[in-house]
Amino acid sequence: MRFGTPLSPSALKVMLLGSGELGKEVAIELQRLGVETIAVDRYANAPAQQVAHRAHVIDMTDAKALRALVEEERPDLIVPEIEAIATDELVRIEEDKLATVIPTARAAHITMNRERIRRLTAEELKLPTSPYAFASSLEELQAAIDGGIGFPCFVKPVMSSSGKGQSKLKLQDDVAKAWDKAMSAGRVKQPRVIVEGEIQFDFEITLLTVRAKGGTQFCAPVGHVQVDGDYVESWQPQAMSKVALEQSQHIAASVTEALGGYGIFGVELFVNGDEVWFSEVSPRPHDTGLVTLVSQYQSEFALHARAILGLPVSTALKSAGASAVVYGGMDAKGIAFDHVDKALAVPESELRLFGKPESYVKRRMGVALARGVDTTEARSRAKDVASRVKSVKA
Ligand SMILES: Nc1ncnc2c1ncn2[C@@H]1O[C@H](COP(=O)(O)OP(=O)(O)OP(=O)(O)O)[C@@H](O)[C@H]1O
Ligand SMILES: [Mg+2]
Repeated sequence: MRFGTPLSPSALKVMLLGSGELGKEVAIELQRLGVETIAVDRYANAPAQQVAHRAHVIDMTDAKALRALVEEERPDLIVPEIEAIATDELVRIEEDKLATVIPTARAAHITMNRERIRRLTAEELKLPTSPYAFASSLEELQAAIDGGIGFPCFVKPVMSSSGKGQSKLKLQDDVAKAWDKAMSAGRVKQPRVIVEGEIQFDFEITLLTVRAKGGTQFCAPVGHVQVDGDYVESWQPQAMSKVALEQSQHIAASVTEALGGYGIFGVELFVNGDEVWFSEVSPRPHDTGLVTLVSQYQSEFALHARAILGLPVSTALKSAGASAVVYGGMDAKGIAFDHVDKALAVPESELRLFGKPESYVKRRMGVALARGVDTTEARSRAKDVASRVKSVKA
């Protein structure tokens, strides 16, 4: 691949579909290599749009609008940052050789839908997963639970992310409520859910896996804590048995090979002793991987940028590290942050404030990062940093 000069005919152009905090870091890495970046989102002044060469606001689930923008911009690469995209149109764009979709249009298409990725991994690749069934009505959901899934179980719209519309069901009374919640929060108004039996795990990890020209490499496992389907804290490396690590890498290699293309993948796995289950995969940087901004020489964002540009990568760990989410804490526009100086007085710490124009109580507005001699020290530092930052009404 030949590198050019941005904003000139020689420019190498990358279009980000989704311009959140993860896309912002990818855009920065691309900018460093003189790549022209175009940041697209459904609202203006999204984080990555604040660092890209150009920004566009469109409904990315609208196939016509997406096609028109790609025809106007003619990017070399299209880099999805979110799931909610008209992925059928991405498939056509790739078929028409308009642009290369990262990692592939098919990967974006399969992973945006829990049914497609679960059938691929459990039924075709025969990887271990939780017991599961799909349902298109409350009656089908009830039948699936009665037919063997049992309680506790999880109900999730097949198209949703970040825990939206998701419930953990403990008893019969929860079933109808879970169905209603899934229907009100699913991304598409198509009544379809996955119901999964609960996996009792010691811990869960994201195995960041990078497919690059030189082959596939794994980052050290990232451990994390999820609350209501959204991550609050992550750290690297997560200690685990040699057998479990090998099994994790085997699963990640198999899934990413099946999806193909170049780039980073966040493979979510549940671990219990030596046993590992596949949960889901993002064919893009993963939020729990924000920790790699301080714990690796090449963060997951640098790895993604390098891999998609056909460059060599290294997943070497620099130090134990941790991340802790900074929430908005309020519903308001243009909020401010106090005590950043106090927060960054914590040793070996860093902070990212994403610059999102609008805050919600539980919206991720920033992330605290820290290194330490081990993950215990790094975690306590990262949480300390996050707790010192005070969001205020401007
Ligand atoms: N079958 C299961 N057994 C045990 N825990 C589960 C199961 N399914 C989900 N969870 C818990 O809920 C979390 C969120 O689930 P999942 O990753 O499927 O949702 P999501 O909406 O895609 O979330 P995100 O977008 O943040 O990854 C998991 O990380 C895990 O902690
Ligand atoms: Mg997940």
